[in-house]
Amino acid sequence: MNIVKTVTELRSWTAEQRAKGNRISFVPTMGYLHEGHMSLVDLAKQHADVVVMSIFVNPLQFGPNEDLERYPRDLERDQVMAEKRGVDLLFVPDVKEMYPQETKTVIQVKGVTDRLCGASRPGHFDGVATVVCKLFNMVQPDSAFFGQKDAQQVAVIQQMVQDLNIPVQVIPCPIVREKDGLAMSSRNVYLKEEERIQALSLSQSLQEARDAYSKGKTPAEIRELIIARISSQPLADIDYVEVLAYPSLEPIEEFGDTSFLIALAVRFGKTRLIDNLMMT
Ligand code: PAF
Repeated sequence: MNIVKTVTELRSWTAEQRAKGNRISFVPTMGYLHEGHMSLVDLAKQHADVVVMSIFVNPLQFGPNEDLERYPRDLERDQVMAEKRGVDLLFVPDVKEMYPQETKTVIQVKGVTDRLCGASRPGHFDGVATVVCKLFNMVQPDSAFFGQKDAQQVAVIQQMVQDLNIPVQVIPCPIVREKDGLAMSSRNVYLKEEERIQALSLSQSLQEARDAYSKGKTPAEIRELIIARISSQPLADIDYVEVLAYPSLEPIEEFGDTSFLIALAVRFGKTRLIDNLMMT
C-alpha cells in the first residue's frame, strides 16, 4: 500500500492509475478505523480497480465546543487495517496540506441541512461539504463510499454532487453494527461501561420502531415510542428523534409510498451518538 501526505504525490499516483485505464474508488474517513470503514473498502473494491482512502480529521466540521482535540487517532493501527483490507493508496494530509491558507470558499448545501445534525451542529455540514468537495477535486474518483449511519451526510453530499455537476458516483453503504446492535462509530470508544450498556437503547428502539411501523403506527406515534424507550435510560440525553422523508428530509405526518428515515441523536455523558433506520 502506498502512503502519501501531499496533494502533489496523490495526484501523480492517481494520474498514473488513470493512464493505465484503472477506475478509482474513494473512501474518505477521519480515521480510527473500524469494521464500518472496512465494509466501505470492501464495496469500493467491487466498484473499481484501485481504492484510495483518506484519513483526515477535518477541523472545519467541528464546532468550538466539540471533540476535535480528543477525537481518537491511531495512524499506525489504521495503516495496518487499511493495508490488510486492500487499500491501494492511503492519503494522510495534515491540516496545512488541506488548508494552506484561510479558506475563503465554503460549500453550503441548503434545505437538507436545516434539521437533525444540521440544526444541532451549526456549520457542521458546511465543513463536511467543503472538505469532501476538496477531496473529490484532489482524488477525482469515479465513485465514493459513505456510511448510511450518517444518512444526512449522504443526502448533503448527493445534493452537492448533483448541484455542482461533480462527476463522482456517491454510493451509500449499510450501517455496520456490533454483535449487540450498537452502530459502529469511532466515537464509541469514549463510552463508559454503563453508558455503553444504555446506548443499546438506540438500536433497540429503532427495532421496535420497525415493528410499530409494520403494525400501522403513525410517524408521531413511532417518534413518541422511541423517545419513551430511550428516556427510560437514566444516562441518555436526547438531542433529536425525527421521522422524515428521505432524501428531502422534510417532516412527514403519514407514511406513504416514499422512502423515509427515522433518525436519532443521543448524548451519553460527553459522547454524542447517532443512529437511524431507513425504509425504502
Ligand atoms: O464521515 C466522515 O468520517 C467525515 O464526515 C468525512 C466524510 C470523512 C469528511 O470529513
